[in-house]
Amino acid sequence: MPIQVKICDTPDDVARAAASEIAGLVRQKPDAVLGLATGSTPVKTYAELVRMNQEGLSFSRLTTFNLDEYWGLDGTHPQSYRFFMNHAFFAGTDIQLWNTHVPNGTAVDADLECEAFETRIRACGGVDLWLLGIGRNGHIAFNEPGSAPDSRTRLVDLTKSTIAANSRFFERVDDVPKQALTAGIATICEAKRIILLATGKDKARVVARAVQGVPHSSCPASFLQTHSDCTFILDREAASEVSAAFNS
Ligand code: F6R
Repeated sequence: MPIQVKICDTPDDVARAAASEIAGLVRQKPDAVLGLATGSTPVKTYAELVRMNQEGLSFSRLTTFNLDEYWGLDGTHPQSYRFFMNHAFFAGTDIQLWNTHVPNGTAVDADLECEAFETRIRACGGVDLWLLGIGRNGHIAFNEPGSAPDSRTRLVDLTKSTIAANSRFFERVDDVPKQALTAGIATICEAKRIILLATGKDKARVVARAVQGVPHSSCPASFLQTHSDCTFILDREAASEVSAAFNS
């Protein structure tokens, strides 16, 4: 099934469109299971969801799973993804923290932690909607180029380009962890629905590759073409290299 492409004028419109779809799911299914991402792109979506929650849309019965976590950082580290999620989203809402799951970057055994993460997703009945971002090298979560479509939650090495891109959040590039726990491509593709957000000119090329190119591990996001219900919500800049034939 081709990836559906929705083009919005601005990054604010992307956030509103994504939040409104998530809100629609929550209204229909208050105990929905949401998959979430960190990074710069979804920050405005989370702010919009916080606003909706404060205006009365309850998230108290939601369960959430995050894609990934730096290996070696615990949840109190300001650059950990657990810390990010607590601050950018969870703390501003009535989401129950014990219903939120971010892989534990300081687990004693990485393999056991990854297995437990997958088991928890299954025990919750699977993810209804997974919100994703995309790396400039085509990664989704920390599934870097070379990742297999049947990959599952695991400990991975980060590429130099991802370490360089993420160093903007750390004092020095050497402070960026070199490994992470990440949901696999198969883990993500088992979600009933997937929404990927991208904004800005620097994502234009990889977005076009993911939507229009042959699915291949050189661009892990291209495997989303194999999903039956995946939409990319893009601003005009990120959509600028996507052929008109894909616009919905
Ligand atoms: C984050 C994640 C990453 C980001 C990607 C884009 O949980 O899994 O794949 O979605 O690196 O990051 P931004 O949005 O900062 O460009």
